[in-house]
Amino acid sequence: MKITIGNQYDAELILVSKDLVPAAYGDIVEQLKGKNLFKGEEGEVYSYVNLSEDKTLVFLGLGEEAKVDEEILRLAAFKGAKELSKLRVQKATVSLKKHANLCYKKSTKAFAEGLYHAEYRFDKYLSKKQEFHLEEVSFGLLEGKEEKVLPGLKEMEHLMEGVFLTRNLINEPAITLTPVELAKRAKEALEPLGVEVEILDRAACEALNMKAFLAVAKGSTNEPRGIIMRYKGGQDEAPLGLVGKGVTFDTGGYSIKPGPSMYTMNGDMGGSGAVIGAMKAIALNKLEKNVTAVVLATDNVISGDAYVPGDVVGSMLGKTIEIHSTDAEGRLTLADAVYYAITHEHVVEVVDVATLTGACVVALGAFNTGAFTNNEELLDKIKTAAKEAGEPLWQLPLSKEYKNLIKGDRGDLKNTGGRWGGASTAAAFIEEFVEGKPWVHLDIAGTSDIESARGYLPKGATGMPVKTLYYYVKGENKGGC
Ligand code: BES
Ligand code: MN
Ligand code: ZN
Repeated sequence: MKITIGNQYDAELILVSKDLVPAAYGDIVEQLKGKNLFKGEEGEVYSYVNLSEDKTLVFLGLGEEAKVDEEILRLAAFKGAKELSKLRVQKATVSLKKHANLCYKKSTKAFAEGLYHAEYRFDKYLSKKQEFHLEEVSFGLLEGKEEKVLPGLKEMEHLMEGVFLTRNLINEPAITLTPVELAKRAKEALEPLGVEVEILDRAACEALNMKAFLAVAKGSTNEPRGIIMRYKGGQDEAPLGLVGKGVTFDTGGYSIKPGPSMYTMNGDMGGSGAVIGAMKAIALNKLEKNVTAVVLATDNVISGDAYVPGDVVGSMLGKTIEIHSTDAEGRLTLADAVYYAITHEHVVEVVDVATLTGACVVALGAFNTGAFTNNEELLDKIKTAAKEAGEPLWQLPLSKEYKNLIKGDRGDLKNTGGRWGGASTAAAFIEEFVEGKPWVHLDIAGTSDIESARGYLPKGATGMPVKTLYYYVKGENKGGC
């Protein structure tokens, strides 16, 4: 879909607050209100098609004017675009007004985002493709704010390209998206944008002593891959570090998962998908920052060579780990990934993103990403970014009690901390490998891949938290206006 400024079409999206109706549509909205057809409530959609005049009006309710925010605009745009597509409209106009709490740049960005969300589909394996008819939406009535608005719209277009890449990677089944394929796709997506992509094979990982990662990879005939992505948009300062869990399928290993909870485990590379998508958005928008992303990709499967409970394995850092569950594999891969990012890529701070624990889903559902840190200042930056992105997260505790639960007996650490507080003990495990560097861990087990569509998010991969990572890397931006 193309998003432009200043083109006038016969189809229009009309934004109506409960207490503020665009003057040109005052009469018709009064009539609709009188007939109880449309009141301007948040989320309301009413379409009016005049076939003889070839005019389509889609009214979108925003609720109370004083409460209009970016999230309301995203959802209104999403619904409007879906409605226009259903009506087979190809080109439409929208006039945004100045909302009290939002500058034009923010409101056009939010609206554009919602429009883009509407066109996402993953239908490559369907014989009958899903149709989307809307080809262009043009913003009118910007009162000379074009120079401010256009760069924001471009930024959003690029950001959503990153989000869509992430979704496509996650939605891809494991039969196709092996670690080798994930590495290939990262390379194909990022190298043309000037990102250096280095691929590590099993031998290279062995040479680096990535023993925890390789313990997980040991049972698979799919070759593991390290994927190192270096974006240099800054000067010669040390890079920010992003690390993504890249388990391309998680059977649980010998601690095997029951059928229903295994079904969606092609999405267990959601963290790496998010990191790769974020790198794409960062590079497309040419952020003036240095960022290095690290993914250690493998699947977690069973064979005569697979690791088993009771094993004691090493790690790149040297700490030894007792395996209590082969299903707690993500933290093993992340242990080596964060340690590698810190010691070999010299990142100044590290944000890891992982579909790490069912416990996090139990705690927060599919609505919030779980956040953990050893550095509140860094988490504050991530929280600011998440707010701007509209990707909710919630901090969970990481105190010494949790750290005590993962102390080992025959090895230095154990890879599970017992039944309770599982999201926090998993985070405590990763912290053992961050060498005291500022670090935030985002557990996206609930938010990366959802069971049913919600708001403007599709069923399946959501693309969270690509936008959060992007705004974090972008840094301070004076409220986004
Ligand atoms: N990939 C799973 C976590 C997960 C669960 C992601 C649900 C998405 C949805 C992870 O590898 C896992 O299996 N974790 C175990 C840890 C336990 C064995 C300590 C879990 O959460 O049950
Ligand atoms: Mn697992
Ligand atoms: Zn897993």
